[in-house]
Amino acid sequence: MLQISNIDVYYGDIQALWDVSLRIGDGEIVAVLGSNGAGKSTVMKSISGLLKVRAGHIDFGNIRLDGLPAHHIVELGISMVPEGRRIFPQMSVLENLEVGASTNAARKTRQNTLEWIYEFFTPLKLRAKQKAGTLSGGEQQMLAIGRALMSVPKVLLIDEMSLGLSPIVVQELSGVIQGINKLRKLAVLLVEQDIELALSMASRGYIMENGRIVDQGDAKLMLCNPRIKETYLGIGAEEKAG
Ligand SMILES: Nc1ncnc2c1ncn2[C@@H]1O[C@H](COP(=O)(O)OP(=O)(O)OP(=O)(O)O)[C@@H](O)[C@H]1O
Ligand SMILES: [Mg+2]
Repeated sequence: MLQISNIDVYYGDIQALWDVSLRIGDGEIVAVLGSNGAGKSTVMKSISGLLKVRAGHIDFGNIRLDGLPAHHIVELGISMVPEGRRIFPQMSVLENLEVGASTNAARKTRQNTLEWIYEFFTPLKLRAKQKAGTLSGGEQQMLAIGRALMSVPKVLLIDEMSLGLSPIVVQELSGVIQGINKLRKLAVLLVEQDIELALSMASRGYIMENGRIVDQGDAKLMLCNPRIKETYLGIGAEEKAG
C-alpha cells in the first residue's frame, strides 16, 4: 500500500539517500535497520513530506505522496513518531494528545480515539492532567506514540522507539505496538538500532548502509541468518541469543 520507489534525497547539496525502494503492505510491520547515519530517519522524513524527493517517487495506494505538504500526508493516513519523541513538556498529557488530532477527521472522532489509546496505554489515562515533562522515559514514548495515533493513521512511522529505555519498558511498548497493529490493522514502519527487537516484531526487514538499502528479506529468516547476525547484531546480541 505504501511504496517507495528508487528515491534520491538530499540535504542541500549533500545526497543522503541513493535509489531507495521499500514497501509496506496493508497492516504489515516492517523494520528499517542500520547504524548511525545510515539514512533511516531520512527515509521517514521523506515519507512524511518533511524532505523533498529529488528522484523516484512515493505512492500510497494510487496517490502520489512526494511533493505533497506534510499536513496533507497526515490527512491521508500517515503519521510519524519522531526520533527523540519531541513531546511538549510544559503541556499536560491530554493537551499533548490533542495536538495529534490535527486533521478535521481526527477532531471529529477525537473522544473515541482517546478512549482506545487510553486502553492500550493506561499510564496516559492515569496521568492525563499531569505535565508531560514529569513522565518517565517510557511514558513519554507512549505519549509520543499516542499523539501520532490521534490522527488515526493507517501507517505509523516510529523512529527509534527503544532508544534510552530499559529492556522491560521496551518489551512492554513493543507488545502494545503489536497489539495495536493486530487489533486496529495499523501498518507500522519501525526504525531501530536494536535489530533483534525490530526483527522480532516485524514480518520483513530492510538494512541500510550509507544511504542505500543493502539487504532485505523475511524478518524471521534475517534474524537467524548467521551473516546478518555477525555483521549487525554484534557480540552482545550473540550472547543474548545463546
Ligand atoms: N539536517 C541535516 N543536514 C545535513 N545532513 C544531514 C541532516 N540530517 C542528516 N544528515 C545526514 O544524512 C545522513 C543520514 O542521516 P539520518 O539521520 O537519516 O541517519 P539515521 O540512520 O537516522 O541515523 P541515526 O541512527 O543516528 O538516527 C547522514 O550522513 C547525516 O549526517
Ligand atoms: Mg535517525
